[in-house]
Amino acid sequence: MRTAPPLYTDRLLLRSFTLEDAVDVQHLMDYPDMASTTDEIEYPYEDGAAEEWIQWCQECFEDGGRTNFAVTLRADGTLIGNVGLNFRIHLPYKHAELGYWIGKTYWNCGYCTEAAKAVLAYGFREHDIDSIYANYFKRNPASGRVMQKIGMHYVEYIPKDPKRHYFEDTIRYEILKNEFIET
Ligand SMILES: CC(C)(COP(=O)(O)OP(=O)(O)OC[C@H]1O[C@@H](n2cnc3c(N)ncnc32)[C@H](O)[C@@H]1OP(=O)(O)O)[C@@H](O)C(=O)NCCC(=O)NCCS
Repeated sequence: MRTAPPLYTDRLLLRSFTLEDAVDVQHLMDYPDMASTTDEIEYPYEDGAAEEWIQWCQECFEDGGRTNFAVTLRADGTLIGNVGLNFRIHLPYKHAELGYWIGKTYWNCGYCTEAAKAVLAYGFREHDIDSIYANYFKRNPASGRVMQKIGMHYVEYIPKDPKRHYFEDTIRYEILKNEFIET
């Protein structure tokens, strides 16, 4: 089984998920606040969903479609979240979508910002992409703040339009490869 390269930051180690993380993933995800911020997370987070998601992440990594990193604390290995890139190569566009979640207990400690910066660097270093973008629901400004702090710039406001699969008012940010400065 191939795995993503480990990424080290001051406080964090980012690594591939394994099935041994499933219990912790379920524990971190099983909050209404978590599910309400994206279309992709269900609440309640059913038994078996974490195993299924980790398996899916592994398959997507193998076929080059995505890389998801388990965000862990370097101090003791505790799993606190996920940051991932979804590669969307539709020539002439070569870009990736950034996504993330951090367990509620660990919010507002700068962990998502620290992890997402490392994942941007990984994306631009290891993949042939020109830009990385991210979307957040207008009512979730903490996510928008992370995008600002990692150097992304505002692109557009996308009003709710279920026909285009925008189920809430959404805001998009982006960073181009030549704008990214590794710190
Ligand atoms: C969004 C999320 C990943 C942020 O993780 P985090 O580790 O707390 O992020 P950071 O600590 O790096 O940064 C959070 C920033 O948002 C700010 N913030 C928090 N709540 C806020 C609010 N209601 N309005 C505006 N800013 C807010 C914090 O003050 C901080 O900014 P600062 O450093 O300038 O003070 C986390 O809240 C989360 O997992 N939420 C649920 C899932 C989710 O929303 N995923 C993203 C979907 S697009």
